[in-house]
Amino acid sequence: GQPVTVLGLESSCDDSAAAIVRLHGDGRAEVLAERVINQNSDHAPFGGVVPEIAARSHAERMDHLAREVMEEARLEFGALDAIAATAGPGLIGGVMAALMTAKGLAIGAGKPLIAVNHLEGHALSPRLVEPLPFPWLLLLVSGGHTQLVSVEGVGQMTRLGSTIDDAAGEAFDKSAKVLGLGFPGGPALEKLAAEATDPSRFPLPRMLAHDKSCNFSFAGLKTAVKRSYDAVEAPTDANRADLAAAAQAAIAAHLAERTGRALDLYAAHNPQARVLVAAGGVAANTAVRKALIREAETRGFRTLFPPLKYCTDNAAMIALAGAERFRLGISDDLDVPARARWPL
Ligand code: KG4
Ligand code: ZN
Repeated sequence: GQPVTVLGLESSCDDSAAAIVRLHGDGRAEVLAERVINQNSDHAPFGGVVPEIAARSHAERMDHLAREVMEEARLEFGALDAIAATAGPGLIGGVMAALMTAKGLAIGAGKPLIAVNHLEGHALSPRLVEPLPFPWLLLLVSGGHTQLVSVEGVGQMTRLGSTIDDAAGEAFDKSAKVLGLGFPGGPALEKLAAEATDPSRFPLPRMLAHDKSCNFSFAGLKTAVKRSYDAVEAPTDANRADLAAAAQAAIAAHLAERTGRALDLYAAHNPQARVLVAAGGVAANTAVRKALIREAETRGFRTLFPPLKYCTDNAAMIALAGAERFRLGISDDLDVPARARWPL
């Protein structure tokens, strides 16, 4: 088949991003240009993403980002096959920025609009790296999502489990906050944990110990970390490192245990395709990676970690999802709404 070239825009959380992807007939994806502007420093003083600040900053940047990637790829809008944008789920004010920009560009260039589910973007992201055949099991663990999804095809995904309270990234960020570390706390907590000498001195609870589903829960962990920290009379750097390591180990163990359950369920339906894909900022954590690889290996699964830039929020995955949809003859009406909630 002919190659398909799509511009993708993303603004559903705290990254404003634009990218152009060319999907070749053989399934190979080529990223022609990509830009991401992270808003971490805008939100850091508040210890989390502030929706109003995020929305304004996306709205100010989106047009410019789209033009930049077009220039970098030396393309005119007329050379695109379609224009894709995340239409949800996410912070609604932010989602609107990319979607409205995409609608304007689609009208101006006379090209089809493709409204992409952000989660489908993450789910398909390993295909940015290699033409991985369906199906695979996805563990998506970031500041906003914690989900286990069986990815059977474009628009064909089954959610096997998700968090009933906090996201895995929030568990890292909230534990980090207790320990007096800055936002985003995950990387800082991992660094501190590396200094630990005795993580076992802080026993933390096993989450959902009696629950047989593939769901996650992290709210109790934050409380336990806080209680453990408050119980230390005069916290030293050594105490803090041990508690950081204990928290990290508890999160990694919970993620691995639930993923193991999902791997068993998935394998029962897909005995041939034994691939686990782990994506999202939390999948950058070495302890998490090791725990996941162990679960996968004992079941004969290969584990694939897309490079970090395609693991965290980006527009290349949105452009790719748009291209895959376009190739299947799918596009959307110009009145497609932005959606705060949009389960797979
Ligand atoms: O995928 P991501 O960049 O996107 C958003 O959800 O916005 O994920 C960010 C999350 C944050 O909660 C951050 O603390 C966490 O991923 N994170 C980590 C690490 N790197 C990022 N958590 C643990 N260890 C890390 N090395
Ligand atoms: Zn995301």
